[in-house]
Amino acid sequence: MDVKIKIDNLRVYFEKNEILKGIKINIAKNMITGFMGPAGSGKSTLISIINRMIDFEDNVKIEGRVLIDDINILDKEINPVSLRRRIGTVFAVPIPLQRSIFENIAYGPRLKGINDKIELFKIVSDSLKKAFLWDEVKDRLDMSATKLSGGQQQRLCLARTLVLKPEIILLDEPCSGLDPISTAKIEEALSELKKEYTIVLVSNNTKQIARISDYSAFFYLGELIEYGTTEKVFTNPSQKKTEDYISGKFG
Ligand SMILES: Nc1ncnc2c1ncn2[C@@H]1O[C@H](COP(=O)(O)OP(=O)(O)O)[C@@H](O)[C@H]1O
Ligand SMILES: [Mg+2]
Repeated sequence: MDVKIKIDNLRVYFEKNEILKGIKINIAKNMITGFMGPAGSGKSTLISIINRMIDFEDNVKIEGRVLIDDINILDKEINPVSLRRRIGTVFAVPIPLQRSIFENIAYGPRLKGINDKIELFKIVSDSLKKAFLWDEVKDRLDMSATKLSGGQQQRLCLARTLVLKPEIILLDEPCSGLDPISTAKIEEALSELKKEYTIVLVSNNTKQIARISDYSAFFYLGELIEYGTTEKVFTNPSQKKTEDYISGKFG
C-alpha cells in the first residue's frame, strides 16, 4: 500500500471524555477508504483531526501523530491554513454561495488572481465535469446555485473543492440527504476521482462503503474495530461486532 495518511496511536479527549481511543490506521494514496460505524463512533472527529478543523474546538486534548506524506500535521510548526489547502472537505449538507453556478466555482480561482474569462471558463467546466454535474448545468451557468436540487448542490460543492486542487478529499456523509440517483452520481464521480486524489468517505450506509471503497474501517465508540480491504471486511470480517454491524443488527 502506498500510504498517504498515517494515523499513529491517536487519542482525542473532549473535556475528560476519550473520544478516539488510540487509533492506528494507514490510509492509502489514490484509493477510497470508507469509514463506517454508528453515530458517536468518532468518525467526524477523526475527519476534523485530519483537516485540523478540530483547532476551532475548545477543551480538546490530542495525543499521537497524524502523518501526511511523512510529516506530522499535529506539529505546532504546521500552518493549519496551508494544510487545509491540501485537503478538501465535503459535508453532509451542501452550502453553495448565494451566487451563480459559475461564480460558485470561479470564486476560489478568482481569489488566487485568475481573472481571464477563457481560463476561468476552462477551470469551471473542467471541475464541473469531474464532479459529474456539467451536462446538467452547462446551459444555465448563470442561474443561482441555490436553485439546484440537493444532489446537484452536493456535486457543485464537490466541484468547488476540486477547483482548489487538493491532494486529499474528505467527505463526511455526503449522500445522507440525497436520493439514490444523486447518490449514484456522487459515487461515480468519486470512483473516477480516486485516480488523482486520496479519498476518505464517511458513510452510515454500509452498502455504499461496500460498493465504492477499496479499504473499509469500522469504528465503534472511539475504537477502530476492524480495518482491511473492503472485500475482506465485508465477506470475512475478523470481528463479530463488524459482522453484526454490516449485517444491520445495530447501527
Ligand atoms: N465539540 C464536541 N464537544 C464534546 N463532545 C463532542 C464534540 N464533538 C463530538 N463530541 C462527542 O464525540 C463523540 C464522537 O462524535 P463524532 O465524532 O461526531 O462521531 P460520529 O461522526 O461517528 O457520529 C460523541 O460522543 C460526541 O458526542
Ligand atoms: Mg459524524
